[in-house]
Amino acid sequence: MSTTSSSNIRLSGASRVHLGAAYYPEHWPEDHWAKDIQLMREAGLTVARLAEFAWSTLEPAEGEFHLDWLDRAVSALASAGIESVLGTPTAAPPAWLVQRHPDLLAVDESGRRVQFGNRCHYCVNSPELHAATCRIVGAMAKRFGPNPHVIGWQIDNEYNRVCYCDRCRGLFQHYLAAKFGSLRALNDRWSTSYWSQTYSAWEQIPLPVGPHNPGLMIEFRRFVTASYRQFQRLQMDVLRPCLRKEAWITHNFMGWFDGLDHYEMTQDLDLASWDWYVGTGHHDYLTTGAAHDLTRGFKRRNFWLMETQPGNVNWSPVNNTLNRDEARAMAWHAVAHGADAVLYWQWRSALGGQEQFHGTLVDPSGQPRPFYREVQQLGRDLAAVPFLAGSTAPSDVALLNSYDSRWSIQWQRHHHEFDYVEHLLHYYRPLAARNIAADIISADAPLDGYKLVIAPTLTILNKSRATRLQDFVARGGHLVLTLRTGMKDADNALLPSRQPGPLADLAGVQVEEYYALLDPVPVAGEWFDGSSRLWAERLQVLGGAKTQIIARYGASNGWLDGYPAITAREQGEGEVKKIVCIEDEPDMARLIKLILERKGYDLTIAIGGQEGLEAIRRVKPDLVLLDLMMPDMDGWQVYGKMKADEEMKSIPVIIVTARAQSADRGLGLHIAKVKDFIVKPFSPQELLQSLERVNGRVYCVGTYLDDASQQSLLNHIVEAAGVEPVLETPPGVEARRRITASGQEVLIVINHERAEKSMGLPWLAREHLSNQSFIEGLKLAPYGVAVLTRFA
Ligand code: GAL
Repeated sequence: MSTTSSSNIRLSGASRVHLGAAYYPEHWPEDHWAKDIQLMREAGLTVARLAEFAWSTLEPAEGEFHLDWLDRAVSALASAGIESVLGTPTAAPPAWLVQRHPDLLAVDESGRRVQFGNRCHYCVNSPELHAATCRIVGAMAKRFGPNPHVIGWQIDNEYNRVCYCDRCRGLFQHYLAAKFGSLRALNDRWSTSYWSQTYSAWEQIPLPVGPHNPGLMIEFRRFVTASYRQFQRLQMDVLRPCLRKEAWITHNFMGWFDGLDHYEMTQDLDLASWDWYVGTGHHDYLTTGAAHDLTRGFKRRNFWLMETQPGNVNWSPVNNTLNRDEARAMAWHAVAHGADAVLYWQWRSALGGQEQFHGTLVDPSGQPRPFYREVQQLGRDLAAVPFLAGSTAPSDVALLNSYDSRWSIQWQRHHHEFDYVEHLLHYYRPLAARNIAADIISADAPLDGYKLVIAPTLTILNKSRATRLQDFVARGGHLVLTLRTGMKDADNALLPSRQPGPLADLAGVQVEEYYALLDPVPVAGEWFDGSSRLWAERLQVLGGAKTQIIARYGASNGWLDGYPAITAREQGEGEVKKIVCIEDEPDMARLIKLILERKGYDLTIAIGGQEGLEAIRRVKPDLVLLDLMMPDMDGWQVYGKMKADEEMKSIPVIIVTARAQSADRGLGLHIAKVKDFIVKPFSPQELLQSLERVNGRVYCVGTYLDDASQQSLLNHIVEAAGVEPVLETPPGVEARRRITASGQEVLIVINHERAEKSMGLPWLAREHLSNQSFIEGLKLAPYGVAVLTRFA
């Protein structure tokens, strides 16, 4: 197992991993609070989330603020050692506000005003809502911003409502005018001559209800996102000046919900969080891990699990309770994927309101439910592993996600079962089954540091996305392109080229035709003999030798028979032979020399600064190894000079460093600037692997393989990219790594099934949950969890 981390997602900075619950003291007489809080303490809770629906209690009439009760609740929690996260209550605008401004209520798709009395009933663009929001949020910010026990803030709750009122329509038209500049441009980019849609005045443009022009539909989603982002900003601008500098601001998103572009929405926030509910049935870790990884990818840092299910929900077809210990395994699953907090929704069943039958920790009588004991166990678990605070979940693989591609595909599926998220999971699950960690990040994010990037159905391929992928491969990365890639531009219009559009040269193939499949089609390859379902693309190899055909279609509809289904193309100038290593530490230089010369590389060791640059010019190497942390040199300056020099610019650099973690962390800050590979901290094995990776590779997968074949294909792709699993485990057992702030590797192993499991371990380990001093193999009880560090 590799002990180095080249992940982009690093920052955690958390001072502990929190355990908590949503608590609504306003539902109860104040003399009940002490018992609640005592039980929270005994369960090991460290945080409570309060107030996110409490508007009518906090401001019972316009401008009349009742904040004392909340102050008393925060203090009572604090005296039990429990911190608070406050929600702004805007998801529940109160009756008096709606009575005064009835058109603050949203209008639904059918043109009807939504009813008061549920949640999120507001029009996000209502000026009256904005004014009232600033008042209530301002009052809360002034009162609680300086409070040291309020560690963070959540804006609103699960944004989701789309409003179709006349005001929103007018604002949408303004948004379009600002974006397109002229109706001519809009008509042109949306091809409005089709079906006589040409607009001669902005006021003619409707809000799309149901299917509509693809350009209009995509812009409407962007407009809805922009509206929510503005509403969120409004609240942040009121909050921020009053908050302590340590306090963060988040919003609780809903995993794969696609009503908004979450990369846009999280840009302004400090932290991303999400709400995870299983509903009917049981959780499937091979799938749910992706939603955690998605949320971690929003801010490219650890996240909070702001709500999760205490046993059961109340809104699903069958509100079954999770098996005993299943929720504990789920909590550890979230932590293993980078959650810095797990909060249950909710603490205690309210006597009234719409959610009377939802699971809680404490029942309406105020007594702990059986489930409470499981949370208590989790409280003990987390107390036993304080070293997890500030740790991160590294990975060498990135899966790219883009909301515009997703919207585009979902609106024009072509095969009703072709689902964007399912397709992404078709690539995620085989990785998860092998315990290969992946980041799920925006298709517009930097790709430095990854060995393998998978771009599932990246339909909307603009220039900057294409360039980023080309650069990644040029630096030696392995890239997987899948179905329906590179078909459209940012206006959701077809590109006037064959797939994969601007990436055809890089991939060495283009798609001659695509087929929605009624029946599976046979596909045979080097590593599998299987079938394709839903979708098949007929690939045409462009210009020969470098493109290898990995699989072909068998006999089927005639159009596909015998044609390439999967290809791989090597990129790069071939093998690395000549290397200049810039280093001014004799021991390090000797070590590198020893490793590389034994492998037959032609190596020049140069002392940093000017001499290093001259050596590069003289030798013209295939590759440069550069130690950024040389004691007497500024490696960044050397790097900068080299990249500024036309002659040297294109020579790839591998950055090596053997420095301690403190220096390493300094390096982390600069990562975004580095275009080349990073090997850190230095390990001979990793270095040799990186040299091999100087040749990039692009796979073009034109088929939707059956699950077993997909697993074989991905096993191969992962191995060729030099990506290693965290640990080999039996099916149903997940293993993940977190790396602590001091660089220590922590292994989290979770049995997600109801049967006992045993497995070997890569090293002698100390087990922190059962307090064994060391073990050689691991036995996990049903839903059992082990947290391991190396036995020193
Ligand atoms: C969430 C919501 C919570 C609660 C929960 C019940 O979507 O944010 O307030 O209603 O569902 O499962």
